[in-house]
Amino acid sequence: MAEMLCVENLLVNYGAIKAVKGISFEVHQGEIVTLIGANGAGKTTTLHAISALERAAGGSIRFCGTDITKMEAHKIIRLGLAQVPEGRRIFAGLTVQQNLQMGAYTRVDSAAEIQKDYDQIYEWLPRLKERRKQQAGTLSGGEQQMLAIGRALMSKPKMLLLDEPSMGLSPLLVKEIFKIIQEVNKTGVTILLVEQNAKMALEIANRAYVLETGTIKMQGDAQELANNIEVRKAYLGC
Ligand SMILES: Nc1ncnc2c1ncn2[C@@H]1O[C@H](COP(=O)(O)OP(=O)(O)OP(=O)(O)O)[C@@H](O)[C@H]1O
Ligand SMILES: [Mg+2]
Repeated sequence: MAEMLCVENLLVNYGAIKAVKGISFEVHQGEIVTLIGANGAGKTTTLHAISALERAAGGSIRFCGTDITKMEAHKIIRLGLAQVPEGRRIFAGLTVQQNLQMGAYTRVDSAAEIQKDYDQIYEWLPRLKERRKQQAGTLSGGEQQMLAIGRALMSKPKMLLLDEPSMGLSPLLVKEIFKIIQEVNKTGVTILLVEQNAKMALEIANRAYVLETGTIKMQGDAQELANNIEVRKAYLGC
């Protein structure tokens, strides 16, 4: 499988705090890869470094063969790498439809192509269609998560970075969101999924990395890790 994202020896510091201490991992085209780990492990920091919301203090990040380590965030989006941030961060004062439009702002293809993607997103996320004129800030938590995913997809990404999409959602909605992630993946979008809900993440992922205090402790096939005793004790509570 072709390599899509390659992170090598990534270091990220916040002043004296070493949040990510030289991690290396890769994601191949078409895969769902999950990065699991406890609070403060460095998961969000890793995603922020990839999408240039934080600067790497060392190491390199390559996306589709291009070195993006020092690239600006909007240029990275244009290359086809989109992020669904932790805590959703939708534009609360804008409508659902306007939020989706914001997602498409970097696109240079035709209005007809963009319309096709609105239709696809409303098909995947019918609840957003019903509420397209509603102010996004008044959506429920689950609906806001769907909107954040929809908005990222409007940039027509090759790869989607998702930061804890299950956070704060009921088990039923978590299932729904994970099903949508799988459907999006089936259309050819590669996924890097950061999750504390290791059980669900390992169920849908091909491969996984376990992050602990800024270093990768374990890696491998998602099913194998789900059966690993250490992982079960530390992250699956069984
Ligand atoms: N802006 C910041 N300034 C200083 N320290 C930070 C900053 N952001 C994160 N950190 C620290 O870096 C470490 C990694 O944080 P990060 O947010 O990447 O963890 P995480 O794995 O995403 O955790 P969670 O599951 O709680 O979201 C933590 O110790 C955190 O306190
Ligand atoms: Mg986080």
